[in-house]
Amino acid sequence: MRRLALAAWLATLAAPLLPATNRPALRRPRAAPVDAGDTSGDEGIDDAGGASLAELLKRAGATRTEIAAAKKISTENAEVIEYLLDDAGFTTQDVSEMLSLKPALAKTASVAPARETVEFLNATFNLRKCDLRKIFREQPGLLLPSPTNNVIRDTGACPAVLATASGGPAAGPRQETSTNVYDVVYLLSSVGVKPKNIKEMVVRWPQLLTLPVAQMLAVTDYLGSLQFEGTVGSLYRQHPWVLAAPVGTVRRAVEVLVDEIGVRRLENVVRAYPRALVKGRDDLLEPARLLQDVGLEREDVVLVIEAFPLLFGLEPLATRGVLAFWRDELGLKKNDVPRVCRAFPSLLGVDVQKQRKVVAFLREIGVVNVARFATRLPPVLAYDVDADLRPKMAHLAASALSVYDVVRFPAYFSYPLDTVIRPRTAFLESYGLPLTRFELKTLFTPGDAQFAKRVVGAAPAEYASFKAAFMKELANPTPKPRGGLLAAFVKPEITSATGKAFPTLSPGAPDVAGGGDKRKRRRRRGSGGPRTAP
Ligand SMILES: *[C@@H]1O[C@H](CO)[C@@H](O)[C@H](O)[C@H]1NC(C)=O
Repeated sequence: MRRLALAAWLATLAAPLLPATNRPALRRPRAAPVDAGDTSGDEGIDDAGGASLAELLKRAGATRTEIAAAKKISTENAEVIEYLLDDAGFTTQDVSEMLSLKPALAKTASVAPARETVEFLNATFNLRKCDLRKIFREQPGLLLPSPTNNVIRDTGACPAVLATASGGPAAGPRQETSTNVYDVVYLLSSVGVKPKNIKEMVVRWPQLLTLPVAQMLAVTDYLGSLQFEGTVGSLYRQHPWVLAAPVGTVRRAVEVLVDEIGVRRLENVVRAYPRALVKGRDDLLEPARLLQDVGLEREDVVLVIEAFPLLFGLEPLATRGVLAFWRDELGLKKNDVPRVCRAFPSLLGVDVQKQRKVVAFLREIGVVNVARFATRLPPVLAYDVDADLRPKMAHLAASALSVYDVVRFPAYFSYPLDTVIRPRTAFLESYGLPLTRFELKTLFTPGDAQFAKRVVGAAPAEYASFKAAFMKELANPTPKPRGGLLAAFVKPEITSATGKAFPTLSPGAPDVAGGGDKRKRRRRRGSGGPRTAP
């Protein structure tokens, strides 16, 4: 009966019952019993055993109906709730969340263990109030008295932890499985986690405080035996949940990785994708099988896995889909598939839809052999069509170049538009050199200094300052394009001594485009214009 009433009450509790405001600890009328004036008319106060739930709710601003609902369970003992609201600084919203996770909180009379746990954590980690609240909101069970002993008392695990950490005999499973905040702290310190980081872990993942010590010891012991170069603690720090990984599962996963797949750099794999540790044998073998099926040698499979451990995290169906897409839609040659996998394994994780869009775009701009294009620049399959490829293609079109130029140099698409392609184009234009005079390869493969010196025949410093001004204007475009910093940029005079403003190296087709004072030419407006298809 009581349970039903509580359940009904909890159901209404969800959000609207208690105001979601972050009100500070409520004042407790009980603290000043002499002053009868301030709580006049209050009738729910149970002077003997602290306030009733109804009273607490009333103080928290609950409505009459809600209080009436709560009165039905007024026989419950709400002392812990009272402590949380009045003394520990929890909000009514916190408490209602906690109650919905752990209804038993409304029935426990033992304030002492709850208070001790709160104060212990607060003092140990010097927690901010919001972090303290978060921990208990997520793990209200910590406030219940543990069945075996007080949560903050040393259960004797520490010597075992120390023995484990110092390479001594492995600690056997302990009898009791009580959660022990103190042990958690001790264990983590013993594997090298700094107090500051323990605190971060606890706030981020409060469940940590509820893990059985035996569990944590077992997994720590096993991971320690793998002799990684980095500490086990650093693994925990980044992935606290590893402490909860069942050691049998972890051991089997390691055996599959090392013995069956042949992984040598296990630590790389584990640190990059620790979830591999809790995967079953079939899940681990599946990606390896897929790779072998498309023609990778066992040795190469290992290299791919070591380079891209996230492979274990991909949906096998999706990976299969990518491979099928490469073969059937894109038309990669049979021999090219393993080469692409080896060189760019992360492409296996790129959504087929996205790759399909790229392929459609390449066809749209007139690339005839898209498969060949993609084997020459596989990452292109992961580029964003609208944000990346289209503007880059539009830029070429605006410079009177065409798809033939990109087909000769697919890597053009791999250069950043704003920091390389645009400023170089603008610089060339300021010298009156049209892009058409060069092969794209000549323009973009060299670094900035080489580009300035060998392609344009300018001092590297000159290009550097031009580029800086260009980027600044890109970041804060002025309303009138001609009034901007670039317009103010004055190219140094070319004297007969330094030669002409003509490239010393111009491998492109000779194209003596119009004479006149080319220096007047500025960055074209189109470089910031709408991104339209050519
Ligand atoms: C937590 O510690 C701070 C500073 O020591 C203290 O002011 C605060 O009252 C403590 N909170 C609880 C709930 O014990």
